[in-house]
Amino acid sequence: MQPQDKPAIDTDVRTELLTRARAAAEHAYVPYSHFPVGAAALAADGSIHTGCNIENASYGLTICAERTAVSSAISAGHRQIVAVAVSAPNVPRTTPCGACRQFLNEFRPGTSGMIIVLDDRDSGELVLLNELLPQAFGPQNLHAAELSGQVSSMPPRDDHGG
Ligand code: THU
Repeated sequence: MQPQDKPAIDTDVRTELLTRARAAAEHAYVPYSHFPVGAAALAADGSIHTGCNIENASYGLTICAERTAVSSAISAGHRQIVAVAVSAPNVPRTTPCGACRQFLNEFRPGTSGMIIVLDDRDSGELVLLNELLPQAFGPQNLHAAELSGQVSSMPPRDDHGG
C-alpha cells in the first residue's frame, strides 16, 4: 500500500462511528447465531446511519449489520459512503463478510477508498475496503461495458443510479 493510500479519518468521527456501531449491536436480532453485530455508516455529508444484523428462521434471509446500515443511508438519500464501523461484541476485529464487501463496494466514494473501522476494543483499527476486496467488480465494470457498446443506459458514475 502506498503511503498516500493509508486510511485516514478524524479521530472524533472514528470514535463516534465506533460508539454508534457498538450501540446498534444491542438491537441485533440473533436468536440463531447469538452473534450480534452493529454497524455505523458515515455518508459523504457527515451523517451517520446505523444497522444491526437481523436473522430469520429461514437462515438464508439473514441480513448483516453492514448491509442494514448502508441500506439505511441509501434510503435516506445518500449515495457515497465514506466509512463503515463494524462491531461484534463477541469477537474483536470482526471484518465484513464477503457478501457485505461486495455490497459496500457499490457505494464507495468515487475518488477515495471506503474506510472500514474494525472494533478492536480500543480506538478502532482502520482498513480500506480495497484491501478487503481487491480488484473488485463494481459499477465501473458496467460503465466500461457501456463505453464499448455492450450495454446501455447506465446511470452516471457519480449518481449511482439515484
Ligand atoms: N454478520 C454480520 O452481521 N456482519 C459480519 O460482518 C459478519 C456476520 C452476522 C450474520 C449472522 O447474523 C451472524 O453475524 C453470524 O454469522
